Amino acid sequence: MLSKISQLREEAMAAIAEADSQERLDKVRVQYLGKKGELTALLRGLGQVDPQQRPVIGQAVNSLRADLEQALADKGAVLAEQEQAARLAKEKIDITLPGRRPQIGTFHPLTIVLREIQEIFLGMGYEVAEGPEVETDYYNFEALNIPAEHPARDMWDTLYTAGNTLLRTHTSPVQVRTMERMQPQVPIKIIAPGRVYRRDALDASHSPVFNQVEGLVVDRGITFADLKGTLVLFVQKMFGKDRQVRFRPSFFPFTEPSAEVDVSCIVCNGAGCRLCSQTGWLEILGAGSVHPRVLEMSGYDPTVYSGFAFGLGVDRIALLKYGIDDIRHLYENNWSFLKQFRTE
Ligand code: PHE
Repeated sequence: MLSKISQLREEAMAAIAEADSQERLDKVRVQYLGKKGELTALLRGLGQVDPQQRPVIGQAVNSLRADLEQALADKGAVLAEQEQAARLAKEKIDITLPGRRPQIGTFHPLTIVLREIQEIFLGMGYEVAEGPEVETDYYNFEALNIPAEHPARDMWDTLYTAGNTLLRTHTSPVQVRTMERMQPQVPIKIIAPGRVYRRDALDASHSPVFNQVEGLVVDRGITFADLKGTLVLFVQKMFGKDRQVRFRPSFFPFTEPSAEVDVSCIVCNGAGCRLCSQTGWLEILGAGSVHPRVLEMSGYDPTVYSGFAFGLGVDRIALLKYGIDDIRHLYENNWSFLKQFRTE
């Protein structure tokens, strides 16, 4: 019996030494110490042993069990360490590889142009004002001398939301909001950038959502000549001195007299193309002297004060500035298009 125990010890120790993975080691454990294992069988056979020899053999089996458990634990620790080392070696990161560059976005051409416009007017002493995109009927129409049923509303009706509010059709309501806020102080000299909504169908030069920059100056003695000088200076700063500009008489209920300003088309250079609807010119703004009724409604006495206002189309200016032949490019989020407008 004792020789069998020592034979088992040798076999088991050899098996433990040979095990080269945790999995194999577990099998060895089961083989010797498991419920149906060889050592367990040995213990069971203890009943048949001569009672005198029993304590000696029992002790030998127990010490074998203890030794095997110890050996299994030791080998288990060694294997765990080896396996971790192997895993770490495999997962090693090559820190000499060049990093992956994050794709850095660019400013949208509208943002670039808007900043440039603001820069020009801030340089002339203007301040920036803002108003809501969802506007009341009063500010969008009424206070701009466009009463209900006035035919001028037709080209400007957009989506009405609850009650008497609508998506603003222009940034001109900010004129009124500013005068109400400032009155009775002068001078007023503000620009108001923002998004506006029109019932325009999408084509090369029209979008139902676009951007404007409103301008308003109110003081004593402001004339149409001030307006003209300001706008010519603006166009020259924006497009350079060689670009052709023209003033056309026009009509707006909130300015009198009124004008529209066109810049010669950059795509066809005046010859006529799809962008400029074959006219050779692209309208970039509406403007005029503030109508006395508008001044009056907002709390400024038109016999004392006068002013001018303009509304620039930021999108059109971007087209003309960069030679973009279709306004839709500005809204399609096409990266090959947008990435061309790097400013750095
Ligand atoms: N609000 C007008 C438009 O959207 C432009 C404009 C602004 C005209 C200010 C005159 C004065 O077309």
